[in-house]
Amino acid sequence: MKNPNCLYTLITGASTGLGKAFAIECARRKMNLILISLPDENLAKLSEILKQTYNIEVYYKETNLTDRKAVVDFANWATDNFSINTLINNAGIGGTQHFIDADPDYLDNMIQLNIRAMTLLTRLILPELKTQGKAYILNVSSLAAFSPVPYKTIYPATKAFIYHFTRGLEAELKDSSISVCVLNPGPIMTNSDVSKRINGQSFYIKLSIMSPEKIARIAVKKLLRGKSVIIPGFMSQLNAFFIRLVPENFRIFVGTRIFKRENGKKRIHENIDNRGKQPAWKQSDQKTVASQL
Ligand SMILES: NC(=O)c1ccc[n+]([C@@H]2O[C@H](COP(=O)([O-])OP(=O)(O)OC[C@H]3O[C@@H](n4cnc5c(N)ncnc54)[C@H](OP(=O)(O)O)[C@@H]3O)[C@@H](O)[C@H]2O)c1
Repeated sequence: MKNPNCLYTLITGASTGLGKAFAIECARRKMNLILISLPDENLAKLSEILKQTYNIEVYYKETNLTDRKAVVDFANWATDNFSINTLINNAGIGGTQHFIDADPDYLDNMIQLNIRAMTLLTRLILPELKTQGKAYILNVSSLAAFSPVPYKTIYPATKAFIYHFTRGLEAELKDSSISVCVLNPGPIMTNSDVSKRINGQSFYIKLSIMSPEKIARIAVKKLLRGKSVIIPGFMSQLNAFFIRLVPENFRIFVGTRIFKRENGKKRIHENIDNRGKQPAWKQSDQKTVASQL
């Protein structure tokens, strides 16, 4: 039987990176948590630590959000058992690759996770959020949402979906008790693959790097103040301004130079690392390959 006086924040992709930072930031603010990630990623341990350290309620589910039924089952379990007043759709995957080299299943997973799981969860949790006096939705997009990006292709397109979906929903819910917000961060040092790729970038791109902890702190604070769009950090705000100012063809030209170089470096590393092995995309492990800009 759920307790209407015990409110929960639901965070997807909470085992590592930005999602874990969100979990810690919300716990610090005494928000009870429901955390999700893929199986066997130490969510049990993280939940226990947060529970003990911050004296809050923490539940977790290890589930694959690229599976439609798993998303629906999870949402039913969560809304049947918990009073939820905050939803943070953070889980997302991406990477840099020639489109033709990308494993079709990997591309499909990216679309199912970044777009379908986020949309379905929002739709399925929304009636529960509406029952609360005040509720919040935070969807994690990216600076990449503001332009097509060669060698990333699908990823920025999924993030543009998240951006447009969230802004549309925000307008629809304007007169309700639900604040809807989209987060568009620049590069974040999260998993080792992302960090390796960011370290290979130009000095200018490195200037915008922020830690997941700092981004989570800014995002949760602004979410609770009812902000609609959050671009954390001065450099990322400057980048977002210029991205939207310059003509699209010029953005694509610059993106091609940046990410062609990154992709070239990655291929050299892969050739060295995988001598005698199958190409990376043919290996069966479909877990998070990496993240994104
Ligand atoms: N890193 C950046 O530079 C950057 C920049 C802008 C925006 N973002 C966005 O920020 C968000 C978090 O990125 P991150 O770098 O922190 O990512 P990350 O370190 O790769 O973590 C991704 C999280 O999502 C979970 N996840 C992945 N696939 C899943 C699936 N199929 N089902 C359930 N959970 C799944 C992972 O769980 P497991 O640990 O169990 O695999 C992990 O908890 C993403 O939406 C990303 O697009 C990142």
